Amino acid sequence: MMDPSEAPIFPVLKGKVALITGAAQGMGKTTASVFLRAGAKVMIADINPNGVQVAKEFSNLGEIRFMLANISKSEDVQKLIAETVQVFGRLDVAINNAAMSPDNTTLLEFDEDYWRKLIDINLTGTALCCKYEMQQMKRQGPESRGSIVNIASINAFDPQPNMPAYTAAKHAILGLTKHAANEGGPSGIRVNTIAPGPIYSEMSARALEIMGTTQEEFAGKVSVLERFGQPHEVAHGSLWLASDNSSYVTGVCLPIDGGALIKW
Ligand SMILES: NC(=O)c1ccc[n+]([C@@H]2O[C@H](COP(=O)([O-])OP(=O)(O)OC[C@H]3O[C@@H](n4cnc5c(N)ncnc54)[C@H](O)[C@@H]3O)[C@@H](O)[C@H]2O)c1
Repeated sequence: MMDPSEAPIFPVLKGKVALITGAAQGMGKTTASVFLRAGAKVMIADINPNGVQVAKEFSNLGEIRFMLANISKSEDVQKLIAETVQVFGRLDVAINNAAMSPDNTTLLEFDEDYWRKLIDINLTGTALCCKYEMQQMKRQGPESRGSIVNIASINAFDPQPNMPAYTAAKHAILGLTKHAANEGGPSGIRVNTIAPGPIYSEMSARALEIMGTTQEEFAGKVSVLERFGQPHEVAHGSLWLASDNSSYVTGVCLPIDGGALIKW
């Protein structure tokens, strides 16, 4: 079987400028490499300064910059969009991927400070990104065909135990996306969601720990393909939604989950 990391990538983002949040590691990082290979100029952002290394590592693939930014802070998000436009001249695509790992508590016992912090990042942070990305895309006019992808989770449909804040925030991302798609439509801006299933990353390793299970055991239970997905398999979905190849698709949620949501 072909390794998904070797799937062919066509230059469907040639001439486009993309912003990817939470790209210092995991799916965001992989998405940056796929988008560079597809011809985009890429701004990556993260609270983790390791993004500098990521930008260096991928510099042979195309134009890439890193900016330290906390998506839950409005000034950071505004500076991020301004810097992207300053460096690359415009903003065509945004992958709002940054998020905090799931909590590990029952609803009856949840820590209220932790709840607020998670909602601040995973929900309000994503909303702030949509707000300032859409303002920029609207300024560029409908011909610029902006495309935004918010990263949710299969948790938005099928909650896992002991992650009440994470589950609530991921459900809300679906509503946020539907609203944003309605508001952005008249300006030619499309907004969609991807709901990844279990994908190899540091976040999923922590989630497995919380659920007290192993990768093998969980993959068998949750995916009809009986395996974890790879970050590339999600990045390719983002690539399609980001590109003009999906030009009549807006307001939808695309699960990339190995069939988790239809499993018996
Ligand atoms: N891995 C999975 O199995 C899985 C499944 C479903 C959904 N998801 C979602 O996919 C996305 C990527 O997940 P991942 O597995 O690559 O996680 P990850 O933890 O490896 O990466 C998340 C990145 O977001 C960054 N980040 C966190 N808070 C931030 C903030 N306030 N501002 C800027 N950056 C911040 C982190 O530093 C990190 O680099 C997340 O939205 C996650 O909820 C992951």
